[in-house]
This record gives sequence, structure tokens and C-alpha cells, in this order.
Amino acid sequence: MTEKRYNRLDTKEISDFLNDKSIKPLVYDVIDSTNLELKRRIQSGDTEYRLIAADKQTMGRGRLGRSFESPERTGIYMSLLLIPDDMDNVLLITSAAAVAVCRAIRKLTDTEPVIKWVNDIYLNGRKICGILAEGTPDKNGKLNIILGIGINVFGGPDTFSSEVKDIAGSIYGLEDARKINRNELAAAVTDEFAAIYNNIGSREFLDDYKRFSMVIGRNVRYRDNGIWYEAKAIDIDDNGGLVVESDGEMRTLSTGEITLRLV
Ligand code: BTN
Repeated sequence: MTEKRYNRLDTKEISDFLNDKSIKPLVYDVIDSTNLELKRRIQSGDTEYRLIAADKQTMGRGRLGRSFESPERTGIYMSLLLIPDDMDNVLLITSAAAVAVCRAIRKLTDTEPVIKWVNDIYLNGRKICGILAEGTPDKNGKLNIILGIGINVFGGPDTFSSEVKDIAGSIYGLEDARKINRNELAAAVTDEFAAIYNNIGSREFLDDYKRFSMVIGRNVRYRDNGIWYEAKAIDIDDNGGLVVESDGEMRTLSTGEITLRLV
């Protein structure tokens, strides 16, 4: 039944939707992980395709060594190749991607997703998108960045395993296949990200990051090196770090190793 309902992700369709025609996409029906595929290509010197996407991943990778469930035909699993001139703004990439995903979804749907620091996108209290940026050296030793984005577009009660079903959600229900074309959304996310990335040093996107934040002003708990702390989230700093206040003291959380809970 799924077969008939959902269009495939498709190389030509994404290409047609892209405004930035310099970005060549390549879509797989099934792959272990789009991040891993891009990594293999970078290491073998093949950087022709700057957007690798798949309809299904068998080994989707998440942050902190977790996996990312990637069922077929209902999500967008994509990785963008970035070759930064310098390392100045590398730390901003995941925050920029979070803003790009929110802008694209807000433009193409009637929904208003929000960002849970640092780089999870939520809708109606459920995580609908995760972002994983990984660095890898190319053949000449130059650091390339693989920006992986996984968006749950359609889903129902049985889309996700029991391990994540209380947290994971989707933009639309399984019955809403006509509400959005995933190829268009994949292209829109790519174009929104490219627009931010071309001017990332200006940090202009951080205004939207703060506007879309579901964390600022809320009480949070965060775990750093195995210890839980309670704090209030105050602001996002110029590097995308989360400024928190605890017992009158300010601290900026900036490492990717922090787990954050809203309380
Ligand atoms: C997270 O929420 O922990 C990050 C999830 C990132 C998932 C995307 S899906 C496309 C790309 N390929 C992967 O294997 N992971 C990223």
C-alpha cells in the first residue's frame, strides 16, 4: 500500500526543484547511511554529488553514537557536502542547518516546527528531524564536512520502534501523502541551507534560531560528563552555544556531548 501512496525520492525531481543548480543531487532507494556514502566518496576523491539522499537507510547514524531510524518512503535522509575554506564558522553549521530545516518546512507546510538546542527539530512535542555533522579529510588531507539531515515527513503509530515512538513524530500523518512532495522539501532544505551558508559569518540566521527556539526562557536539565545540572536557558550566543543560568551563575553550553531535557 505504501508503494502506491508515496512518490519516490528522485534525483531528477530534486534537481528540478533546486534553485541552486550548482548542487548535483544523487538519490538512492536504499543505502546504509547517506553520511557514510558521502564519506566513502570524499575519501575516494569523488565530490561530484554534493547532495546524497535516500528513501531508506539501513544504518542511519545519530548523535552520540545512537542510530537514526529511517523507514522507507516516509522520510528524507540526506547529506550535504561542505568544503569550508577555513574552520572559522564550522561550529555554526548544525545551528544553521536547524534554521534551514525550520524555514523550509514553514514555507512548504502549514506547520511551525521549533528547535530544541542544539539541533533537534520538534513539532507538537515530538522530534521530527535530527542533524548530524561529521568531519572527514579528503584525499589531500583537507577537512570536509558531511551535514546529515533526517526528516520524518509522514508517520503513524507504527512507523517507529518502541524505543523511540514516545519521542519521534512526523510532520504529517500517513494518510497525508498528497500534502507535500518530499523532493520539493529536500530541495528547499538544501536551498535554505545554501543561502545561510554562503553568508554564515554574518550570523544573521541566529535571529531565526532564537525565534524558533523552544528552549530559551525554559527551565532545563543538562548532563555534562555524566552529571545532571538544573538551570534556566537564557540565550543563544554568537557561536550557537546555549547560555544558561544556575544559582546566579551564567554558563555557556557549547559541546556536542551535552544531553538537554526541558523541565
Ligand atoms: C540525531 O538526531 O541524533 C541526528 C540524526 C541524523 C540523521 C541523518 S539521516 C541522513 C544522515 N545519514 C545518517 O546516517 N544520519 C544523518
